[in-house]
Amino acid sequence: MIPARGGTRTSSSSRTKRTISRSVLALGLVLGCVSAVKREDFKTCAQSGFCTRNRAYAELAKETPQWISPFQLNPSSLRLQGGILTGDLINIEEDKQPSSKSGLAFELHLLDNDSVRVRINERDPIHPRYDGVKDTVLIKPYGMANENSYQKLAKDDSGVLTIQYGNKNQNTIKVNSAPFKIEFLVNGVSTVVLNDEGLLKFERLRKKQEEAAQEKEIVDEDKLVDQGDENKDDEVKIEKSELETKLEANMWEEKFKEYTDSKPRGPESFGMDITFSGIDHVYGIPQHASSLSLKATKGTDAPYNEPYRLYNLDVFEYEVDNPMALYGSIPFMLGHSKNNTAAVFWMNAAETWIDVEKSPEDKTGGILSWIKTKKPVSAPSTKTHWISEAGVLDLFVFLGPTHRDIFRQYTSLVGTTALPQAFSIAYHQCRWNYNTQQDVAEVDAGFDEHDIPYDVLWLDIEHTNGKRYFTWDHAKFPDPMDMQRALGAKGRKMVTIIDPHIKKDNDYYVSKEGAELDVYIKNKDGNSDFDGWCWPGSSQWIDFYNPKARDWWASQFSYDRYVGSTNTLFTWNDMNEPSVFSGPEITIPKDVIHYGNMEHRNVHNLYGTMFHSATAQGLTQRNETNQRPFVLSRAFFAGTQRFGAIWTGDNLATWEHLEVASPMLLTIGLAGIPFSGADVGGFFGNPEPELLTRWYQAGIYYPFFRAHAHLDSKRREPWLFGEPYTTQMREAIRTRYSFLPFWYTLFQESSVDGMPIIRPMFVEFPEDEAVFGMDDQYMVGNALLVKPVSKPGVTRSTVYFAGTEKWFGIKDYSVEQGPGAKEVASPADKIPVYQRAGTIVPKRERPRRSSKAMENDPFTLVIALDSNGEATGRIYLDDGESFDYQTGDYILREFKVADKVLTSRNLKPADAGETSEFVKRAGALRIERLVVLGSTVPLKEVTVDGRAVQVECSQAPTDGSYVCTVKEPKVLIGEDFSIAFA
Ligand code: NOJ
Repeated sequence: MIPARGGTRTSSSSRTKRTISRSVLALGLVLGCVSAVKREDFKTCAQSGFCTRNRAYAELAKETPQWISPFQLNPSSLRLQGGILTGDLINIEEDKQPSSKSGLAFELHLLDNDSVRVRINERDPIHPRYDGVKDTVLIKPYGMANENSYQKLAKDDSGVLTIQYGNKNQNTIKVNSAPFKIEFLVNGVSTVVLNDEGLLKFERLRKKQEEAAQEKEIVDEDKLVDQGDENKDDEVKIEKSELETKLEANMWEEKFKEYTDSKPRGPESFGMDITFSGIDHVYGIPQHASSLSLKATKGTDAPYNEPYRLYNLDVFEYEVDNPMALYGSIPFMLGHSKNNTAAVFWMNAAETWIDVEKSPEDKTGGILSWIKTKKPVSAPSTKTHWISEAGVLDLFVFLGPTHRDIFRQYTSLVGTTALPQAFSIAYHQCRWNYNTQQDVAEVDAGFDEHDIPYDVLWLDIEHTNGKRYFTWDHAKFPDPMDMQRALGAKGRKMVTIIDPHIKKDNDYYVSKEGAELDVYIKNKDGNSDFDGWCWPGSSQWIDFYNPKARDWWASQFSYDRYVGSTNTLFTWNDMNEPSVFSGPEITIPKDVIHYGNMEHRNVHNLYGTMFHSATAQGLTQRNETNQRPFVLSRAFFAGTQRFGAIWTGDNLATWEHLEVASPMLLTIGLAGIPFSGADVGGFFGNPEPELLTRWYQAGIYYPFFRAHAHLDSKRREPWLFGEPYTTQMREAIRTRYSFLPFWYTLFQESSVDGMPIIRPMFVEFPEDEAVFGMDDQYMVGNALLVKPVSKPGVTRSTVYFAGTEKWFGIKDYSVEQGPGAKEVASPADKIPVYQRAGTIVPKRERPRRSSKAMENDPFTLVIALDSNGEATGRIYLDDGESFDYQTGDYILREFKVADKVLTSRNLKPADAGETSEFVKRAGALRIERLVVLGSTVPLKEVTVDGRAVQVECSQAPTDGSYVCTVKEPKVLIGEDFSIAFA
């Protein structure tokens, strides 16, 4: 039977269609065929008025010989004070007689961390443009550059104002007034140029009547002309060219399928081009099912003919290799070349499109050549064109100079990842749905029977009473607390799903209270509650822009409100783009109204994050035991990392989707969200056992590691396929568990400095051009190189070993020498994973049933020596649950091998704060084993304070070096020690 999606009632044809289309797709899946995305449900640029208008403007610029941007800074208005340059930005075509009220207000802020903010807003709009994104996204007021750290240099002959600036005085900002253009140079090298191509366009708010009146005037004039000669009708009619029509497309209303966007404020979009000069690889702007290095969307031979789109959408069965919008949006882009790294953050939460154009033979090189005072620079460049529907232009430029600096600069503004609970980086078992309490008990027992560790069992929407979140279907789950207790006894947790749509039902307490408190999103009239269709049928959406709504929502998670919940229950926020089955593009109409009479159009891409954050707030405040929240979200925006994890949505059980998961997760990580994963196994369809096994082998290297499956898919718990698959999947999951101390340490590092946890090769090897476009292998932290197998029947894989040092296979310690590509074995039971020479990785190698059950286990350090016989690494440990680490209750140590001595030293500042029983207990755990790789001679004597320790060495499988195991050196993880090797 096809399960009813969205209930049985439909009140419009669109609802019916949506319900049917989902069911038909589901039927396709039952029959075993995986179908494709319904592209026609989603707009192309040509179907979006503001995208069309801005892209047409770019076309106009291209077609016009000697195109010059009409925007100019009024030179006499420019002031630099307190680190902020301000001025009037005039469009000479619109502001024929500029006054202090006409035009745009321009600001350039010099931050104290080698970043620059550029803002452009209307000087005197007929109503304020939405400018609230900054209040939600920026974590705190940032520091301005100290007066001594910048210097304004006199304007040169060509009218370029130069600001020399930076912590090392390495940045130069050249502001060209006419036409308006800004170039950023780092150590004299041009990196980012704003309005390089002159595509800045800024639609000022206007009254519709005025236009109408203007039109009337034109018609009247025409009439006068007509009266002269009645037969000349055809001659006086001015035919608009195709380009002219595009330049004015859908200014006041827009139709898409059966939906009309009323656009009450008319056109208010803006766009600008940003050139990354001397840079031919740009990355970021998730979420797209595409490559890591962004592809051209314009120009000859461009692989895509649509811009990358950022608009949070529930794209059912998304396609790979496509710039279509998906569930999350982060307008952050990083450009990298051998000599140059820079990034931009276009802080806007309205719908945004971005064109990418490669210019390999670029001769323009920014302002310097443009003003023809210097020799043209010849370097490949990437030109990007950013187009947003509403709000203000608010842009950050991060000048690095290294990408480690850039991650720090960006995350110091939008926040780093919250430190997750330790269980949440272990393995999660999910499906839509585990059907009954009995089913849960059986699956849980299945893991134990098959000796496979797991930490969390998930319940999807069917566990509720009729998709009323915070309730239970008691026929299926008679005693939810008991169920959680049973899991909790083994150190395991449970997650239930809570979506942002609330079933319209007066007998449902959440629905009723929401109505009484008046916390739902309003229709465009601003008065009546918006009503749409989702899983429960007719539903309402909570307006998380209303502070009252957020607090009320957060309070729903307290144990007395959420009946049946315990402190081992955590939350999954789904459908929060938001997904509205009866809405345009399966989301909420843009003209619905939020708190403060604010149109949804302005904040669409932030809605899901507001929901995510209110949920995290709820879990944080629900108990007195000071426990960190865990909330998984599907929609995301810049800053989501402060609230929890995300996953890449409804992928397919195909090899292509396994393959695209790596670039997708790498991109999301670069854009600031390290805690992400893809549904292991693929959500739709039924993976053959080989695909599922390969997906586990890859998935253990996703920061968020969860298997999930669609309601209509066959059961696929790891033991259901028989041998050799069960053993292979068990081995993979156990490998993840063995590396948990390493993962947790990486999370802590990321929570401090914003470094991605899984890293594109170029992040670790920024000088090796061979890796700039590489996304089929990647690094976990700085130490592990992972090459997933994403083709069937493969037993050998080509791995690129970057750098000039060795790499050690994590299972058999086989040795490979960089640099260069080499074919290595990738048999069915493992994918190629190597530890980099020069690193030390902490592990726990005793198989247990959950991460909690490992917390008193001893450690192993795997030491991969480099060619100088050196290596370093770290460990971070805390209680894995509470916020006590914030007041110093943690262990942070550095391990280092130099001069044949391994030392452990405390990295925690002396004034970090109080420690508790935890630090005492964990600090007293043993290091039970050292594995030393890469020694050119067998270690003969290993001593700790003169005491000899047992060591055994064997020759590494593929070269002359040795693998030595030091057993029970009798040192503790929390103490200083030195171990001498000879
Ligand atoms: C859509 C989500 O993407 C999927 O993971 C979930 O199983 C279904 N909604 C049902 O809740």
